[in-house]
Parts: sequence; C-alpha cells; structure tokens
Amino acid sequence: MDAISVIRAKRDRNRLTDAQIDWVVDAYTRGEVADEQMSALAMAILLNGMDRAEIARWTAAMIASGERMDFSSLPRPTADKHSTGGVGDKITLPLAPLVAACGAAVPQLSGRGLGHTGGTLDKLESIPGWRALLSNREMLDVLRDVGSVICAAGDGLAPADRKLYALRDVTGTVESIPLIASSIMSKKIAEGTGSLVLDVKAGSGAFMKNAEDARELAATMVGLGTDHGVRTVALLTDMSTPLGLTAGNALEVRESVEVLAGGGPADVVELTLALAREMLDAAGLPDADPAKALADGSAMDHWRRMIAAQGGDPDAPLPVARDRHVVTAPASGILTGLDAYAVGVAAWRLGAGRARKEDPVQAGAGVELHAKPGAAVTAGQPLLTLHTDTPEKFGYAVEALEGAVAVAEPGTAYEPTP
Ligand code: URA
Repeated sequence: MDAISVIRAKRDRNRLTDAQIDWVVDAYTRGEVADEQMSALAMAILLNGMDRAEIARWTAAMIASGERMDFSSLPRPTADKHSTGGVGDKITLPLAPLVAACGAAVPQLSGRGLGHTGGTLDKLESIPGWRALLSNREMLDVLRDVGSVICAAGDGLAPADRKLYALRDVTGTVESIPLIASSIMSKKIAEGTGSLVLDVKAGSGAFMKNAEDARELAATMVGLGTDHGVRTVALLTDMSTPLGLTAGNALEVRESVEVLAGGGPADVVELTLALAREMLDAAGLPDADPAKALADGSAMDHWRRMIAAQGGDPDAPLPVARDRHVVTAPASGILTGLDAYAVGVAAWRLGAGRARKEDPVQAGAGVELHAKPGAAVTAGQPLLTLHTDTPEKFGYAVEALEGAVAVAEPGTAYEPTP
C-alpha cells in the first residue's frame, strides 16, 4: 500500500477500501505517511466526501490508533456531552457538576480553543491553581470522589485524531462532515462513556453554518455512537448569536458560576437544563431533577469540589483584564442581530483565543454583551464591553465587529432563530 494511490482514489471520487483506510490511518499515526500527503487526502475527503461505511471504518481506525478507557468499575452510570463548538459556549462548566449532582458520573474530556471558538480548558485555567492535565488514575479518582471531572484527553487517546486535527486546522480542512464526525466520535468512543449527548450547533459562529448540514452531522455522529454501543442522542441548537452574555475565558467562568448560584442568562440556564435532562435520560436516570439540583445548591457544591480536586481555588478572585473599551448601539430600535462569528473573532483578537496551538491566552480578555437580540436599544447606549490586557488590539477587534450589529425600527417583531 502507498499514500499516493489512496490520495488518487479519493481524488477521483472512489470509495476507499477498508484496507486502504486501516493502512493510511495507522501509517500516518506512525509517521510513515507525511503531513503533506495526509493534507492532500483530507482535502480530497472534504471535497468528495465519504459514505457511511467509509466514515465508520475511518472512525474505527482512529479509535484503534490508541488506548481505550474503562469506567466499568464506577458505581454510577457514565454520561458525557460534546458540543461542536461556538461562541460563548460555556455550558460544560455548569453542566458537568449539575449532572454529577443528579447521580451520573461525567467524564468530560475537553479541548482548548483555536480560532474564534473558545475552549473549555482555557476557560477553567483562568481559575488560580486549576490543572487540566490529569493522569488516567487521577481522572478516575476525581470521577469516583466527586462524580464529574473536566480534563484534557491523555496523549494515548485517539492519537491519530490529535495529529490529524492539528493538520486540518492549518490546511482549511476542518469543515468536512466525515472528518468532524470521525474526529469527535473516535475520542468519545475511546473515552468509554456509556451514553453521550451531542449539542450540534448551526449558525455563523459554528462549523456548520446551516441547519441542514448540522442535521447531517448529527445523524452521522448518532449512527457512529450507536454502532459502538454508546447510547447517543443529539440536539440541534442555534449559534447565530453568542450564548449568554460573555465570550472569553474568566468572563465565561464568572457567568457559569452565576448559573450554578441560581442566576445567569436565561439562554444558558435553559440549554444547561435541556442537556442535563437528555444526559440523565440517556444514563438511565430519567427521574432525576436538574432544576432542583441547581436551586438547592447541590450543583454548586459539586462544582466547588470538582475545582478543588483539580488543584483550583473556587473562592479565588478571577483575573480581570487591565483595559476596557465600550461599543455603543448605532441606532435606537430593536436589536435584531449580534453576529456570533464576529463576536468570536473580536474576543479572539482581544487575546481570549490563540492563532497557533502554542500561543498563550489572556485569562481576562473577551467580550461582554449588554443586550441580546430581541431587546430594545437606544442609540449610544453601551452594547458591548471589550476587555484586554493589550489595548493596542481594540481597533483590530472593533474592525471584526463591523456589520455585526443589526438594529431595526422600533416596534419591529423579532423572530429568534428556532
Ligand atoms: N471538534 C473536534 O474534536 N473535531 C473536529 O473535527 C471539529 C470539532
């Protein structure tokens, strides 16, 4: 077998055989297939697609490239959630301790942000002392003692995906349904969760810009999970405007703690509870009541224990950026649009995200929203506050927001994206 024949086969719109898939994934993981060859193959897959059987085989090959975790010794059923990513999507932070408070074990392996979408680990690292890197043993201990853990995936889990995802990120080959579905599901299946709830985002701030593509991605991932014995369900949710009122690391932690304390923006609370109910149902705990666990403080108690178990101080003040800049409403009327992608890019330019994997992020940087689509606004009122330690970036961030705000005549009916 050789890489060039596999690339040519997909370039010429042929199905890849099981043997070709097994070989190319394994040879790439071992370094025998070069990055430039895998880039060409990824681009051919992005352009020409894969059928369901090819995607299933590709996913199985990525799982087989590394170790599989085993949570069967835990006394609780396991439930995990994965979001396909968006702007202001901090849901994992309140959700994991909430579902643990309701009786499930939540092994939440999470990632860092790249580009305009934030990463759960970057957000949690703004808590002084908190550690993302745990050994498998430590992860199991936190899961057993607290019920939820949020940490980085170990090097041994789906290493083929680790390599391929970094390559796709710099070769314009992320937005491919076969590649996204196999990337996410290989990690989730190798992680060994018993059930999985997928939050598949559609809209400007998501990888899938429209509902049709998001539905296809969801169906592909549910099929892969089910075939591997993981009870998998998917929700399709909107990402045309940021979730909640913050996009940025410490800003999002603060908002998540507000949710755990019984407050927080309505859209974050609503999605957290909807995903919690799906997770508890999939884990065989349909009678658990997540709204009660939020209200009675047990979710907050689990959060505090989870943060402390990973070295963090849940009472430490969160970092605050040194400088602020206010963006005002351009006109009076009804705010009908606040584009998620533009806000994500602005937060990233302010220092909340990174351009390259090795870049540091600013804990305090990001964007705070003072109004959400549907609200009445007055010309000149503060609409967004930009936070950064590098004020020379304000102009660059404001540029990203050009055209992002839409204000319609007073009295205009606002139709939220379903
Ligand atoms: N998240 C992943 O883990 N992989 C993708 O390909 C896209 C989002």
